[in-house]
Amino acid sequence: MSKKETFRVKRAPTIETEITVPGDKSISHRSIMLAALSNGVCKITNFLEGEDCLATAEAFRQLGVTIEHPEPQTMVVHGSKGVFKQPEGDIYCGNSGTTMRLISGILAAQPFTCRLTGDPSLTKRPMRRVIEPLSRMGAKINAEGPGDTPPLRIEGGPLTPITYNSPVASAQVKSAILLAGMFSKGVTTVIEPALSRDHTERMLEYFQVQLRRDEVRPERNREPKEYKVSLVGLQTIESRDFEVPGDISSAAFWLVAAAAQPGSRLLVKNVGLNPSRTGLLDVLVRMGARIREVVEVVEQGEPSGVIDIKGCSLHGTVIEGAEIPNVIDEIPILAVAAALAKGETVIRDAKELRVKETDRIAAIATNLRAMGVEVTEAPDGMTIKGGSKLKGAKLPSYGDHRIAMAFAIAGLFATGETVIEDVECVATSYPGFDVTLKQIQKGSGLLSRTTPVISSLGR
Ligand code: S3P
Repeated sequence: MSKKETFRVKRAPTIETEITVPGDKSISHRSIMLAALSNGVCKITNFLEGEDCLATAEAFRQLGVTIEHPEPQTMVVHGSKGVFKQPEGDIYCGNSGTTMRLISGILAAQPFTCRLTGDPSLTKRPMRRVIEPLSRMGAKINAEGPGDTPPLRIEGGPLTPITYNSPVASAQVKSAILLAGMFSKGVTTVIEPALSRDHTERMLEYFQVQLRRDEVRPERNREPKEYKVSLVGLQTIESRDFEVPGDISSAAFWLVAAAAQPGSRLLVKNVGLNPSRTGLLDVLVRMGARIREVVEVVEQGEPSGVIDIKGCSLHGTVIEGAEIPNVIDEIPILAVAAALAKGETVIRDAKELRVKETDRIAAIATNLRAMGVEVTEAPDGMTIKGGSKLKGAKLPSYGDHRIAMAFAIAGLFATGETVIEDVECVATSYPGFDVTLKQIQKGSGLLSRTTPVISSLGR
C-alpha cells in the first residue's frame, strides 16, 4: 500500500463466502524469538509478513541470527542457542509494542548494551511495566523518553529469577519476564490477575521447555482467580518446525461484518482457536450471533480450525472484567458491532485501551459519533447506544491498524460513502485486508449452497 492511502467503503451485499486470514501476529513474533533462542534450524510456515513481525525478524538478524525468507510466508531461522552479537546500530521496533517489550526480556540478559527505538506511536507507549520487573531481575534499562517511554537503552547482564505479581494481565509483560527467566538460574514465576494470551507458554512447551501453570484462588475465596506460570531457567529450547495458524484478531473484522447482517454466512478456515483469544466469539454469541467452531489441529500446542458464522440481528451486551484481556485487540470491531446492535453495550475495565497504538477509547468514540452513534466515554471504557442508522463519514485512522479496519467494516453498513484516511498502518498486521474488503463489497467468492454445515462442537 502506498503512503496516504484511503479506504472508500459503501454498503455491501450480504456476505456468503469462505476465507482464510494471514498468520497470527502474536504467534509469528514468538516463533522468530523462540526459534532464534533454539539449538538448531526451525522452519516457520504461514508466518505473518506484516511490518510488526518483520521488525522482529530484522531485530534478530541485527543480533547475528541467520533468518532466511525462501518463499512468501516462510522463514527459516538458524537458532543461536541464545548467544547473540551486539547490534551495530539501534534496533528499530517500528509500531510494535510486542517486539519492544518481549525482546527487552532477552536483551536484559545479554553481555552487551543496545538501544531500542520505535515509530512515533510506539515512542509514546509505557515501558515501566517491563522495566520494573526486569530491573528487579538485575537488568539496567533506561527509558530515554518522558514518563518511561522509548527509546530504551538496555545494559544486559546476569539475571536473578523473581516471582512477579503483575498488576496488569499483559501477555507482553508475562512473556518478557519468562524470556528473561530462561537466562537465569532458578525458578521464575509470573502471577497475573486474569489470564492474558498464553502463546509464549504454549510455544515454550512445544519447544520442549518444562513449565508449570496453575490457577490460584486467593485465600479469601470471593476474589477472582489468579494465573501463575513458572519455569526453571537455562533449559534447552529444542528447535522445531512450526506452522502459524490464521489470526483470529484479523478474522474478527469479517466475523463481525457477517454476524451483524441477517442472511450472511461466513466460514473462516485455518484460524487460531486458542481459548485465550476466542473471547470475541463468546461476546458475539451473547449478542445473538450463531457461531460454530471446530478445532481441527492441536499438535503444535496451538489449536486451530474453522469458524462458521451466520448473521442475525444483534443486541447489546456488557464486556468487562476477566473477559477484557481475551478481547483486548477486538474492542474496536466489537464497538462497531455494538453500534449495529439493538440496545446498549457497556465496555468497562478496559483502561489498557488508552495506551494501545493510539488511545482507542477516544478514537472509537470520536469515529462512532461522526457516524451518528451516541457514545458515552468513561476512563476505562464506554457505553454505546446501538441501533440507529450509521451515516457515512470521513474518518481518521489515528495511525492505528485496528481502528482503520474496524471503521472500514462500519462503512459496509453505513449510508453513503465512508472514507478511512491514512490506512497504510493496516500493513502492520493485515497485508491483504484491502483485497478482501473489495471482494466483499463486490459480493464475490460466494459459498456454494451445498457447503456442509459444520456439525460438531458448538458454542
Ligand atoms: C500481545 C499482547 C497484547 C495485545 C497485543 C499483542 C502479544 O498486549 O494487545 O496486540 O503478542 O503479546 P498486552 O500484553 O500489553 O495486553
